[in-house]
Amino acid sequence: MKTMTQGDTRVAHLPTGSYYSPSGEYDEMHRRSIEDPEGFWAEQARSLDWMKPWDKVLDWKAPYARWFVGGKLNLSYQCLDRHMKTEVKNKVAFYWEGELGDSQVLTYAELYRLTNNYAAALKRLGVKRGDKVALYLPMIPALPIFMLACARIGAIFTVVFSAFSGQALADRVEDVEAKVIVTATGMHRRGKILPLKDNAVEAASKCPCVEKIIVVKHTGHHVEMDPARDVWLSDILAECDEYVAPEEMDANDPLFVLYTSGSTGKPKGILHGTGGYSLWIAKTLQWAFKTDAQTVWWCTADIGWITGHSYVVYAPLELGLTSVMYEGAPDYPGIDRWWQIIAKYGVTTFYTSPTAIRMFMRHGEEWPAKHDLSSLKMLGSVGEPINPEAWLWYYRNIGHERISISDTWWQTETGGFMISPTPGIQAHPLKPGSATKPMPGVDVAVLDADGKELPNGQTGFIVIRKPWPGMLLDIYRNPELYEKTYWSRFPGYYLPGDYCMKDQDNFLWLLGRADEVIKVAGHRISTAELESAIVGHSAVAEAAACSRPDEVKGEAIILFVTLRKGTTPSVEIKNELTRHLRATIGTLATPEEIFFVNLLPKTRSGKIMRRLLKAVATGATIGDTSTLDDGASVDEAKAAFAELTDSAHHYKTSEKKPDIK
Ligand code: PRX
Repeated sequence: MKTMTQGDTRVAHLPTGSYYSPSGEYDEMHRRSIEDPEGFWAEQARSLDWMKPWDKVLDWKAPYARWFVGGKLNLSYQCLDRHMKTEVKNKVAFYWEGELGDSQVLTYAELYRLTNNYAAALKRLGVKRGDKVALYLPMIPALPIFMLACARIGAIFTVVFSAFSGQALADRVEDVEAKVIVTATGMHRRGKILPLKDNAVEAASKCPCVEKIIVVKHTGHHVEMDPARDVWLSDILAECDEYVAPEEMDANDPLFVLYTSGSTGKPKGILHGTGGYSLWIAKTLQWAFKTDAQTVWWCTADIGWITGHSYVVYAPLELGLTSVMYEGAPDYPGIDRWWQIIAKYGVTTFYTSPTAIRMFMRHGEEWPAKHDLSSLKMLGSVGEPINPEAWLWYYRNIGHERISISDTWWQTETGGFMISPTPGIQAHPLKPGSATKPMPGVDVAVLDADGKELPNGQTGFIVIRKPWPGMLLDIYRNPELYEKTYWSRFPGYYLPGDYCMKDQDNFLWLLGRADEVIKVAGHRISTAELESAIVGHSAVAEAAACSRPDEVKGEAIILFVTLRKGTTPSVEIKNELTRHLRATIGTLATPEEIFFVNLLPKTRSGKIMRRLLKAVATGATIGDTSTLDDGASVDEAKAAFAELTDSAHHYKTSEKKPDIK
């Protein structure tokens, strides 16, 4: 296979036309959205059903943007009630496929009925507008239904990814002050049952704010119930067959908090609102994937991440699309499970991660070739940079060189896609590995370290110069961190924390994180979070985390650990630390390798020389140490490097399948 490198200007052979020409529809729409954002978004917002129109399109008091000020709406109404008056009512909303091969079909009418019942159940348990609910559920229909039910009654929810541990759940439940945890007996993963209810009990016992645990019967195994605290969903639903009027929510009322990793040891709660967010996700889905009434959409992301919030649950329902939702692992029971599902449901539009594509690539093209993928019309990629080889494999073996790929770059904080091809506006050429151009409303620049705009062809920090409707409202209960993280380095501009290069054709290449955030199989985790978890173990004196490029997962976690006196490096202690990390954070925190060292390399001022760690982790030489960004002198770095390589005992984790987002 011919290799295309990042920045390659060759384009994939897609239908031709007057793409991105100055008179093209995309350019015209983008220009208008930047020159007159208020006029542009007022026009777009007519597609929503407002209970009361807004008084002002945008109130921008940097760094806080409030969209559609004074407007009232309800997102569950957008997703369900308004379809009850159209033919969408009897359309399939979700084809749900269980890991064990069981399945369920939910029409919009059925989803509407269930959402009302679940909303009534929450109310019956005392959940009111503004209360917080933690949803710790696998990929089963109850999860989107609870998200819709919370939106309906104005309860703020936080979804906690089901592979997080009981401790990680407790951290989030405590921070958000959840009154109720919703969980399931357990979840199926590659033929095993994971004990979600037990983890929820662990969290509840650590968090006095929790009054009730609602339990969905899913795996059929026995779980202990505490009658004072735990309720079966089925029991309470038996009393809740009723309509619940949707609350009139303010456009800027919080909808959910979603925890994600940043530069600190504690995950931060990204707070999203109602009006701007609803509009942003629906419009961006249409633009990036050219959806229509015939679309059968499958976004493979877990709902525990922003991709699942925006593009498994809310946007497809707002647009009245039919979606596939799959409970299990991509390679269970066979490596062709996903291709089987595409053929079974006639999926037209398929959206997944580069890690998944690379995993399938490793297993060979004969697996997708066994299945009829001719229903596919559009492909997408998200979560991490996609290397051109993986892009081309996807284009050839899944898209059969006939359909377009939307590589969508965005973040938990942005709510929806920011940079992506927009075939829903105008067809255009693609370059394997580039997310192409900004969405309407997204004003991008690439800056150097001093905040000067860089010429095309040079790599720098991507910034967004104007607010957009899907922008986060705040960091939950931490506005200082919000201002510092995103707005302080280049005042007035939003800083996503990624490197970017704009090529000569103005195509954007997103080149990975510029900070201490690691992306493992698309999961976001910070070095600080790993370090703070590992030093919580009594055998550990100090620790530093970094990453190493990984052929399938994008990046793999590498830890450097100094042990306390009396503990010597061994496979047992390595396994023990791995278990500790999994129990503190979850399986996604599993390190690929642990280096036990006598000392962590530090500058005189006490900063860890992270580049040195990376050099050791990747087996590189220290190279030009004058480029160290921590102010270490060359001699200092060399001495530390020698000490590090001499003293290191390292242990690898046996190979694990990537837990795909
Ligand atoms: O580094 C970028 C990478 O994922 C980060 C955001 O992670 P998270 O908030 O977990 O959201 C993931 C789902 C949107 C970004 O800062 N990223 C996401 N999509 C891409 C990407 N990097 C390159 N190309 C992408 N398409």
